[in-house]
Amino acid sequence: MQRTFAELYQAEAYPPMSHPSSDPIVNAEVARFLGFGRSKVEGARILEIGCGTGHHLLSVANRLRSAECLGVDVSKKYISTAKNLARQTGLKNVSFCESSILEFDPVGEFDLIITHGVFSWVPNEVKVGMMDFIGKRLSIDGIATVSFNVAAGWKERMLVVEKVRAIQTAGDVDEMTALAVFKDVADAREAEIVDDMLAKGLEVLACDDFGPLTDAWSLGAVVKLAEMSGLRWLGDSVSGERGDDLTDEKLKTTFRSEIFCRKDALLGESIPFSEQSSENFIVPHFPKLDAWRLICAQECLPLVDSKLKSCVFPFSQLKVLAAMDGSRSVMALAGFAKEVSPELDFVPWLKYVTERGFFA
Ligand SMILES: C[S@@+](CC[C@H](N)C(=O)[O-])C[C@H]1O[C@@H](n2cnc3c(N)ncnc32)[C@H](O)[C@@H]1O
Repeated sequence: MQRTFAELYQAEAYPPMSHPSSDPIVNAEVARFLGFGRSKVEGARILEIGCGTGHHLLSVANRLRSAECLGVDVSKKYISTAKNLARQTGLKNVSFCESSILEFDPVGEFDLIITHGVFSWVPNEVKVGMMDFIGKRLSIDGIATVSFNVAAGWKERMLVVEKVRAIQTAGDVDEMTALAVFKDVADAREAEIVDDMLAKGLEVLACDDFGPLTDAWSLGAVVKLAEMSGLRWLGDSVSGERGDDLTDEKLKTTFRSEIFCRKDALLGESIPFSEQSSENFIVPHFPKLDAWRLICAQECLPLVDSKLKSCVFPFSQLKVLAAMDGSRSVMALAGFAKEVSPELDFVPWLKYVTERGFFA
């Protein structure tokens, strides 16, 4: 039986994820490219609305130690998990608050407001309240990153969901089984969508494509709501591109992450993207993960790399990562890896882990 939105979020954990498209460093750089050059990252006050169990915000706080990070979520269970993780990491620059955004009344304004995977997952009154909150609490130098499902591509996914649900009901099977059954009779386009859904896995699918509420809007409609809330649309949060509804229809876009500033903020000259410094990673002699990544390894949570990408490791490799507390040499770790993860080609794997910035 399909569950309501509130039941789903109170009962189960939404899978912990970080989101590179809501990376404050990237978003601020893109805003500068779009002529909004004042959004600050160092020392910024960052708010994440609908932060879930805090995986993204903890990773942001872990990297941006000078920022003051606050996460708010309506789910008691998620906020309790987020607070526990924050306590374990010892990070002093992150806190969490249980509240609906509709009643949330924190002190002051924020330089960066992130809300990822929330807009399309809440009823319209919450969408409106959330945009209104952002319009009122974004600082004059601030930017907000809002992601949402796009109707142009989402509606064909929903047609697939409808057919798969019929199979589920008839056979009393889970989403993954029903998707596999449907794929045998699907046309080429439907089969592509099914493959994409299967790749997400059951946990994500239950809250995403098969969630009780996944409401897709057009970019134009979201921009209109933002403008009514005193905001100005800048562009895509990663590429800076200013898309439009016609292109979304043509490309069957399913998801967007866009940045906004206040309507009364002044735009200046566009500043070209700064050269990415080519980082020179050296494998440390005594590999040491920081407290947040160590906790992720110990608790079997995805580890987040230096670009805020989540990386899911098999359990046997997590054991090796959990041993990287700076007390063991590379040689000792190689021996340990042989014991707990005999199939692991340790040296190239360690180089890969180093290059992803896990020890940065
Ligand atoms: C799909 S989950 C996304 C979680 C996280 N942002 C992510 O992308 O991994 C949506 C989140 O919005 C939260 N939420 C729903 N309604 C809310 C409200 N009125 N105020 C604050 N948070 C809300 C839910 O509890 C849930 O954690």
